[in-house]
Amino acid sequence: MAEDLNIITSTDKQDQYRSLIPQIEGLLSGEPDLVANLANVCAALKEQFKWFWVGFYLVKGNELVLGPFQGPVACTRIAYGKGVCGAAWAQAQTLVVPDVEEFPGHIACSSLSRSEIVIPVLLDGHVVAVLDVDSELLNHFDDTDARFLEAIVKLINFK
Ligand code: SME
Repeated sequence: MAEDLNIITSTDKQDQYRSLIPQIEGLLSGEPDLVANLANVCAALKEQFKWFWVGFYLVKGNELVLGPFQGPVACTRIAYGKGVCGAAWAQAQTLVVPDVEEFPGHIACSSLSRSEIVIPVLLDGHVVAVLDVDSELLNHFDDTDARFLEAIVKLINFK
């Protein structure tokens, strides 16, 4: 199974994202509750891609606090600038980490996580949350994931 996932081509991935986006739009449509929407976006992504872990951390003061997610239990608080999530927050840009062991300060919520992508969510120029995705496979995420996941978080109303 893990090996199968590794040979998914970028085009396959694009097709999966393209079919998923209208489903996510449908899930979000008419529902104003942020937690409900974040929970369903995580579930839709996890069902589609079978990633190890997918979830949101929400900015609260000077920390990120765990929000809705799918996968094993995770660290609840991450300081500004710490780990991949905190770095994506501080830099306000998407970080693709092909090998988490090569990322200084990576926070290992699970030793099974090998690669990671973190997408910051901006509202009025400020990061209000990050979307974090972990894989048990090395080098699992690329520019295609970055582009589509950035588009997906923009569908969510964080106000
Ligand atoms: N690895 C993340 C921490 C969150 S867990 O992966 C769910 C990081 O380094 O920020």
